[in-house]
Amino acid sequence: MLVTLWLASLSLPVLWSQKLINCPYKNVCQYALLSGNDVILQCNHPKALWYFSSSLEDKLSLLNSMPNVKILFGSNLQLPNPQPSQTGLYRCLDNYKARVVEYEIDFQDITLLRITHKDLGQRPLENETMNLGGEVLVFTRWDPWQDCNRCEIPGERKRLGYCYVEEPLGKSMPCWLYLRKEKVTHVRLRPELQVQACQVPCDTITEITQPYFVFDTHQLDKTTNHGWLSCPLASIYR
Ligand SMILES: *[C@@H]1O[C@H](CO)[C@@H](O)[C@H](O)[C@H]1NC(C)=O
Repeated sequence: MLVTLWLASLSLPVLWSQKLINCPYKNVCQYALLSGNDVILQCNHPKALWYFSSSLEDKLSLLNSMPNVKILFGSNLQLPNPQPSQTGLYRCLDNYKARVVEYEIDFQDITLLRITHKDLGQRPLENETMNLGGEVLVFTRWDPWQDCNRCEIPGERKRLGYCYVEEPLGKSMPCWLYLRKEKVTHVRLRPELQVQACQVPCDTITEITQPYFVFDTHQLDKTTNHGWLSCPLASIYR
C-alpha cells in the first residue's frame, strides 16, 4: 500500500505536467511537436515493446532499453527533451508483434521558432509555394489558443503553429516528415508561436486547484550575482 501511494504521488506530477499524445487502438497517427519539450506517447498496453525508426535512416530499433527514453506504466513512452533528430516512426507492438499504436512524429526545431505578437501588428508567416522535388505549399497549422496567463487583469495567451507541407492532391504532412533525408533550409521552414492580449474573469475552482511544487533553494553566483532558474515542470504546450 505504501509503495503504491508513493508511486502514485511520483507519477502524478509527471503526467499532469506533460503533453500526452494518443492515437486510437491499431491506428497510425501523425503529429508535429516541438523539440525540447517532454511528451508521453500513449500505448496503454500492459506489456508492449516500442520500436523507433528515424526519418533519416530506415533501421528499426528497439527503444525499451535506450538511455534517453523512459517506459512508464501501461507501456507509455516518455521522451524527455526530444530533439529534431528524434523525428520518425514510433511503433508500439504487443507480444505477438502486432501493432497496438503507431506514431509518426516530427519534432520541429525549437531554436527555429518564430515568435510574433498579434496585438503589436506582427504577422505570422504567409503560405508559400516551394519546389521541394515537386511543387508544394508550405503553411502553418495552428493549435488552439492556450489559456490566458492571468485572470481579472490583462494578460497574454499563446498558440503554437507547426510547419506543414501540402501536396497538389491536398494531402498535408509535417515538414520534416515530408522532407526526410532532404537537407533543405529555408526561412519558411520553421515552427511558429503567436501571442495575443487577453482578459478573462477568474474561475475560482481552477485557481485554487492548481498544483504547485517546491523544488529547491537557490543561491546567486558569488562572483557575478546572477542566477539561472529553471522551471522543471514547465512546458510550451500549456
Ligand atoms: C494556407 O494554406 C492552408 C492549407 O492549404 C489553408 O488552410 C489556409 O487557409 C491558407 N491560408 C491563407 C491565408 O491562404
